[in-house]
Amino acid sequence: MSPHNIDSIILSLLERHAREKENPPEFRERMLAMGSEGGRFVETIVRSFRPKRGLEFGTSSGFSALCAMKGALAGYSEPSACPFQLITVDFDPAKAAWARDNFEKAGVGGKIKILIQDGLEAAHKVAGPLDFVLLDASKAQNLPIFKVLLPKLSPGAVILTDNMLTHKEELREFGQFVRHHPDLSSAMYSIGNGVEVTIKLTDRLTNEVIPGDSLETFYGDK
Ligand SMILES: C[S@@+](CC[C@H](N)C(=O)[O-])C[C@H]1O[C@@H](n2cnc3c(N)ncnc32)[C@H](O)[C@@H]1O
Repeated sequence: MSPHNIDSIILSLLERHAREKENPPEFRERMLAMGSEGGRFVETIVRSFRPKRGLEFGTSSGFSALCAMKGALAGYSEPSACPFQLITVDFDPAKAAWARDNFEKAGVGGKIKILIQDGLEAAHKVAGPLDFVLLDASKAQNLPIFKVLLPKLSPGAVILTDNMLTHKEELREFGQFVRHHPDLSSAMYSIGNGVEVTIKLTDRLTNEVIPGDSLETFYGDK
């Protein structure tokens, strides 16, 4: 028997995503998920990079967080054996409640902490080191959030940014920043909505990594 139920929850969210495309509900009720290609990409990146401390901006239904967790859990007999921990941020309490329900049903409620907060405020609050970040909330906040997080990223950290194709103009400055920064390597992949993959380089750092309280401190006040 599977120790978690992620696959069936991801599948049901993808079905809901397809229905939403055909017959969109009111904006605040939409899941606005990364979709099947984007989700599979997140899963694959996490599965290959094996991060331990992740931070996501834009929880919504919890779809992309579950895809990340699915990648992290590969090869582990049960969720508690897997070292990956994820904090996911959304300022909408209704979305947070929806995601929490999905995380519980998937059997990974204990591994994903939801912060109900503005993204930029959360970026200031969460301590490093972080080795996985997913940016999928306010496009206008991507660059300010990234600048706050940069010193908290460990060398080799991977940052995924969604909507590089669907929000090209809004994310132009962000794309230029990550592609020209001396401590980063970054490229856009035409997968789903367009995903930027940015790596914090290990060999030439102009920023010192700022250590801080471990993410575990956030797991006590769920
Ligand atoms: C595109 S959806 C996230 C989809 C999710 N990553 C997925 O693929 O399942 C964006 C989410 O970001 C949240 N959001 C938008 N602006 C925000 C902000 N300034 N701070 C925190 N959350 C925000 C919205 O409430 C929404 O749930």
